[in-house]
Amino acid sequence: FAFTPANQAWAEAQITKYPEGRQASAIIPLLWRAQEQEGWLSRPAIEHVSEMLGLAYIRGLEVATFYFMFQLQPVGSIAHIQVCGTTSCMICGAEDLIGICKEKIAPRAHQLSADGKFSWEEVECLGACSNAPMAQIGKDYYEDLTAERFTEMLDELAAGKVPVPGPQNGRYASEPLSGLS
Ligand code: FES
Repeated sequence: FAFTPANQAWAEAQITKYPEGRQASAIIPLLWRAQEQEGWLSRPAIEHVSEMLGLAYIRGLEVATFYFMFQLQPVGSIAHIQVCGTTSCMICGAEDLIGICKEKIAPRAHQLSADGKFSWEEVECLGACSNAPMAQIGKDYYEDLTAERFTEMLDELAAGKVPVPGPQNGRYASEPLSGLS
């Protein structure tokens, strides 16, 4: 793994933002940039970032495995779907959403769909419990999901459309909350 010249320059600039002896604190932005470049974090990518920061590979791996935002295996070229499976979402229908992922994408989490376009996983609470059940796709949250709407969303993605993020039942969709402007 090597950063592109532009990303390498960006990564080196990030490292200089931290005080002497604290360069390791740049690990999350550097790992994130490596993932943006490759689509996921390979071992060579984690090794490269760790080396840039003077860390052993295991320290980089510790960080990469701690956060759901880092993917340690290839993900779908169109979307990697992260379905929250924690209490509120589980009570409100997460199992149905996971069942749809198993049926429409792949039987196992982190497995690529046959066409390589989708992958999925169950994740812990993403902090949107009041709008359960929900899923994260890329950097966006899709909330108040139903099995029907979730299926529709997967079809929209497969057709090249990006569903509008946020609550999927119309809640707050047309009017902003009063007093928050
Ligand atoms: Fe699903 Fe918190 S339980 S977002």
